[in-house]
Amino acid sequence: MEKKNKQKNEIKDIQKIKAPIVEALKNASDNPTYQFHIPGHTKGKAVFQDFKKLIGEKALNIDTTDEFDNLGTLHPATGPIAEAQELAAQAFGAQKTFFLLNGSTAGNLAVGMALTKQGQKVIINRNCHRSALTGLMISGAEPVWVCPSRIEDWSIWGSIEASKIEQALKENDNVGLVWITNPTYEGVVSDIEAISKVCKKYNVPLVVDEAHGCLWNFNKHLPETALKLGADVVIHSLHKTGGSMSQSSMLHIAKNSVINPDSVEKALKLLHTTSPSLLLLASLDAARAALQSKSGQALLDRTIKNAKYLRSRLDSIPNLHQLKTSFGYMTDVTKVFIKIDGLSGKRLESILEIDFGIEVESASDVGVLLLCNLGNKRSDFKYLADALEKIASNNYTDICYLENRKHMPMLEPQIVMSLRDAYYSEKEVVKKEAAIGRISAEVIAECPPGISVLLPGELITEDHLPYLNDYSELEVVKRN
Ligand SMILES: Cc1ncc(COP(=O)(O)O)c(C=O)c1O
Repeated sequence: MEKKNKQKNEIKDIQKIKAPIVEALKNASDNPTYQFHIPGHTKGKAVFQDFKKLIGEKALNIDTTDEFDNLGTLHPATGPIAEAQELAAQAFGAQKTFFLLNGSTAGNLAVGMALTKQGQKVIINRNCHRSALTGLMISGAEPVWVCPSRIEDWSIWGSIEASKIEQALKENDNVGLVWITNPTYEGVVSDIEAISKVCKKYNVPLVVDEAHGCLWNFNKHLPETALKLGADVVIHSLHKTGGSMSQSSMLHIAKNSVINPDSVEKALKLLHTTSPSLLLLASLDAARAALQSKSGQALLDRTIKNAKYLRSRLDSIPNLHQLKTSFGYMTDVTKVFIKIDGLSGKRLESILEIDFGIEVESASDVGVLLLCNLGNKRSDFKYLADALEKIASNNYTDICYLENRKHMPMLEPQIVMSLRDAYYSEKEVVKKEAAIGRISAEVIAECPPGISVLLPGELITEDHLPYLNDYSELEVVKRN
């Protein structure tokens, strides 16, 4: 999506870009000490040999935690870690950035814990990630669900209308927060600017879980980040698409945020491990530095060109369809959701994997999601497009057990008990069929995409059954 006058980060040469944690780790590795502290494998000297061969001595040598070797601390942020967080804040256009271990999950838990309270209401989209719900279960705030539009023929949730947020704000007192997921897992983008205006009108802070949009600030062909559109807090899973290692994410406090960063820092301190992995922290530092560098910018440019190439190849395959902006939804070009007539998404996924050695991001009953990654080359996309052409023109048929499984529920929840009360209630386990008419006491939200089928406090109905194939029993609130 083209954006005029979009302020993007300066392209700098990688040599001039600082990566303080990376530098500090290198320094520590070059100047070894006699180590009488954790981690006990002592720079890889005491690990299983096959594991050592697999990941290499170097990685083990720098597997350490904060406090030691002048590496700084995470809570409070000091030394190279503090410096790296400041550089990240500048790069993403935030007032303050916190590095997250345990992924964006940690960010959502901290938002729930720090920014919501028992008795408050939180306006939140029904297709939020389960970690946002866990945040609410910690605090005891109650969700007021907003259901996004539905894209029925793709069996996915669409965008969140600002008018629905306004309606929820009008109808509810004591709203502590509006908490929105953008983009969706499949790349559908909501109008955050409009939602933010509504939030400001009602004086309610806005948190945007932008887990899948961490690249947006670094290329003008991608949607605008919520940090520039009026959100108060934004969460990014750098490890998903931004090039850092698994589990590493960032939480940003926006420049004009009404949120006090200290409250978030306090919650993160309690939620985080007390032995943060320097490898993960360094990978966040490195990912930010790379995104700002010339070579990183070139990789992102290449990714967008490759995504466009893939999309144009897919357009010429007659019985293959892709979700795209011209259908009336704003989308992120790098997330390609496709379906082929006559094949379920699960079947397509298995053909791609077994016959072509291609592994996709996820598959639903309808389609598969392909992520165009920073590391993919043009030849990868060519191979993928060729494979899809072959599949679409061959006589592949569906397999019943894959075809009949439903994945993405788009049901209006019937709430009969508070989320937290139901979660902490006395429970019993009953056969799935006997659970109809009972109150769920558990979160049922499989990953990916971690969106709830059922939550504690919701009435279980027959409509849920197609989504519960993997369950023979359910945990329900015990009857008195
Ligand atoms: C919208 C959204 N938010 C948060 C998360 C949690 O992210 P992480 O895996 O980084 O903990 C996910 C994970 O898929 C997600 O899709």
